[in-house]
Amino acid sequence: MKGIILAGGRATRLRPLTTITSKQLLPVYDKPMIYYPIETLIKAGITDILIIIAPDYSGHFLNLLGDGKEFGARFSYAVQKEPKGLADAFIIGEDFIGDDNVTMILGDNIFDQDFSKEIKEFKSGAMVFAKQVEDPERFGVVEFDQNMKAISIEEKPDNPKSNYAVVGLYTYDNRIVEYAKNLKPSPRGEIEITDLNNIYLQNGEMKVKIFDTLWEDAGTFDSLLRVSNIMAEKSKSKQ
Ligand code: G1P
Repeated sequence: MKGIILAGGRATRLRPLTTITSKQLLPVYDKPMIYYPIETLIKAGITDILIIIAPDYSGHFLNLLGDGKEFGARFSYAVQKEPKGLADAFIIGEDFIGDDNVTMILGDNIFDQDFSKEIKEFKSGAMVFAKQVEDPERFGVVEFDQNMKAISIEEKPDNPKSNYAVVGLYTYDNRIVEYAKNLKPSPRGEIEITDLNNIYLQNGEMKVKIFDTLWEDAGTFDSLLRVSNIMAEKSKSKQ
């Protein structure tokens, strides 16, 4: 299983914090944000990791993270020139993925959960994780039937069919690369991970795993502050 961390984009929503640096390098309490997705992958047993970054601050990532030895991992890097959508990660990562399966985590998604069991058990198809949230319209949203079987995923719907958000941690078999290459851009001009997920869902090859531990998409001022406070509390309670 290979790992990809997508840490591109311009994070205009977080300006002026992101005017002279990248969102994923901002502090979340006592560490740069990107340490969290790195640790989530490593905890899940994934140590061969491609980090996809925007051109502007790419040198900062290299200075901070190096080749990954300090983390007990191996890091490779790729530059995403334009933010074309999350699915673009599998096109950029084609050579890195090779013939393997792949787990992608978003560089601003912060978890406090060990996903190693689910990821080690993964054989084929796709697997996503979903959590109940108060603001599902900000996310990909899963619709379930009466038996809690997932029937569709909608990207940022105006009228969400449930309050289960698809979080930024996705595991796919090797077909993901070909599926990504054949996607058409959505009305917002991006190739959408939600469209990839719906391919697997419609083929009956998608597992949706519900969890209820900590998850934050730290891409707004409020969520960034919230998750920093949570991590500060956790660190103090350990002392
Ligand atoms: C992206 C995905 C969305 C997912 C979210 C998780 O949204 O498109 O489906 O729920 O990440 O953080 P974005 O962060 O690009 O708004």
